[in-house]
Amino acid sequence: MKSEKAKKRLGILISGSGTNLQAIIDRSESGDLHAEVVCVISNKAEAFGLERARKHGIAAIHLDHRSCSGRGEYDAALVTTLQELHVDLVILAGFMRIVTPVLLDAFPNRVMNIHPALLPSFPGLDAQKQALEYGAKLSGCTVHFVDAGTDTGPIILQSAVPVLEDDTVASLSERIHHEEHKLYPAAIQLFAEGRLKVEGRRVLIS
Ligand code: GRF
Repeated sequence: MKSEKAKKRLGILISGSGTNLQAIIDRSESGDLHAEVVCVISNKAEAFGLERARKHGIAAIHLDHRSCSGRGEYDAALVTTLQELHVDLVILAGFMRIVTPVLLDAFPNRVMNIHPALLPSFPGLDAQKQALEYGAKLSGCTVHFVDAGTDTGPIILQSAVPVLEDDTVASLSERIHHEEHKLYPAAIQLFAEGRLKVEGRRVLIS
């Protein structure tokens, strides 16, 4: 059921292509997602996701991490921008930086990430390669709230895909990406409807 309340305001952080960003923009514009993307912030000027944002009239902001003296200072700049735009929920979508308590404390249980594996298996970089090399028969993607660890926060939703014998990193990544584009908007919609409650490590969905 769709909420009659104001749409949740999303700030999306990226470093690259932004296909998840595009899926979220598309669901938002079609009305399937009761949330609007109010800004896209990238630490890389050349990230194609910034171009996607501009195309849809969304504020596209390049915040260069090299202009800050450390992670905390960078996150403080992020917080300033996100708060100025009254962002309700921060979405990490291929944002290749570790976030600090400076961001997490400003948005408690309001920072989400998507990871291309079934956590807690294969956290960190190159998750698809890790799954292939391990010989896993199933992998997938996980949307979780972000905590201070790497890919360790409370799990919101997961979706599994098979790992096929002739898979390469590219073919497995494509299968996972396809699921990500459905899973991330679904998790954001649950947040927008006020249906997520974090109890310790568990996310309860009402
Ligand atoms: C996705 O695979 C996501 O799981 C990971 O980074 C990738 C971003 O892809 N965190 P895209 O830029 O949304 O295409």
